[in-house]
Amino acid sequence: MSPDSAGPVTIPVGLPGREYGVTVGVGAIERLPDLLRGRGRAMFVTQTAIMLPHVANVIDLFERRGNEHLVVGGVEHVDDGEAAKSLGTVERLCRRFAQLGVRRNDVVVAIGGGIVGDTAGFAAAVYHRGIAVVQVPTTLLAMVDSAIGGKTGVNLPEGKNLVGAFHQPIAVLADPTVLGTLPAREFDAGLGEVAKYAFLGDDELCTILETESAAVVARDPETVTRVVARCAAFKARVVVEDEHETRGTRATLNLGHTLAHALETAGGYGLLHGEAVAIGLVFAARLAAAMERIHPEQADAQIALLAALGLQTRVPADAPLDRSELLALMRRDKKSSGRLTFVLDGPEGVELVDDPPTVALDAAFAAVGIRA
Ligand SMILES: NC(=O)c1ccc[n+]([C@@H]2O[C@H](COP(=O)([O-])OP(=O)(O)OC[C@H]3O[C@@H](n4cnc5c(N)ncnc54)[C@H](O)[C@@H]3O)[C@@H](O)[C@H]2O)c1
Repeated sequence: MSPDSAGPVTIPVGLPGREYGVTVGVGAIERLPDLLRGRGRAMFVTQTAIMLPHVANVIDLFERRGNEHLVVGGVEHVDDGEAAKSLGTVERLCRRFAQLGVRRNDVVVAIGGGIVGDTAGFAAAVYHRGIAVVQVPTTLLAMVDSAIGGKTGVNLPEGKNLVGAFHQPIAVLADPTVLGTLPAREFDAGLGEVAKYAFLGDDELCTILETESAAVVARDPETVTRVVARCAAFKARVVVEDEHETRGTRATLNLGHTLAHALETAGGYGLLHGEAVAIGLVFAARLAAAMERIHPEQADAQIALLAALGLQTRVPADAPLDRSELLALMRRDKKSSGRLTFVLDGPEGVELVDDPPTVALDAAFAAVGIRA
């Protein structure tokens, strides 16, 4: 699976009857016209920040083959930010598909980060009761996480991701060259999710991150390709094992996320998701060590790796965070069924652990700079 000068690598997601590939590497996007051969036309959904540097090039590829491969006028923009992940946006997209005459065999091409992927993916899931979607992730987070696995959906005022559908893409094309224009903070936040896969047990990924952190941080395309390919392969394995998150395997991908979701909900100081995950990973490592599930040195090594990747490992000193509010939010997490549930490493590997002892929670909160 190691990428070489021959071009991108394709990682299979082996869901019976709905197999697809995650193609990773320089030039992956150029596979799009070939991928759609024999299917309908392409309808693009993207964002302004991505349109000019990247989508215009993709449209060029199609135009060289003649316009019949594109839905005429078929580029739709989604606004920036979580507020755009709404039913209103999905309605607007579906109405636009209808106005432009998008048919059942046409294909939605979602070119963007998780906001575009989740929204366009959900629109594709429901338009005409489901049309094909290709995910072309343009953030590191989307490449390693949101574009793979078929979770699509939008937020309600009552909560995040409350409305959605499982709708697997027909392909994912992850081209690291598009990351060149990604704002630094967004790239770094994606590294939080990357580190998660390393800590979930991908030792080879851990070694790459430890020994080549400078190349990763510098977004060297060859190194990023290897990193993304390892994360994609990990996620693909989990999705095949537990597509609908009913067996617990997919839930382990939430390592670091219990505290991260609470930090994001508590708001106050605008952490990006991946930044919150990095702090959540520190919390989970220290909690596991305090419960004697792992050696303290393992927690030290994980925290050192996060720091080497340039990630914050503690909340800012002036963050207005209240520990009892965070605990209440963690109990209310939609995946916790009222208990305080963490994904923690241990002698049997990574597993779900309920209601850790207070003394261990104290140590974990202190490690991320949240005091009682
Ligand atoms: N479906 C899933 O399984 C899943 C998993 C994890 C996260 N998510 C969702 O993903 C969303 C976050 O996604 P995200 O972190 O990719 O953020 P995002 O989609 O908001 O993108 C971040 C910012 O970068 C800009 N951008 C994207 N690609 C760019 C590029 N190549 N060059 C320049 N600018 C670019 C975007 O316009 C945006 O301003 C959240 O809503 C989260 O819930 C979904």
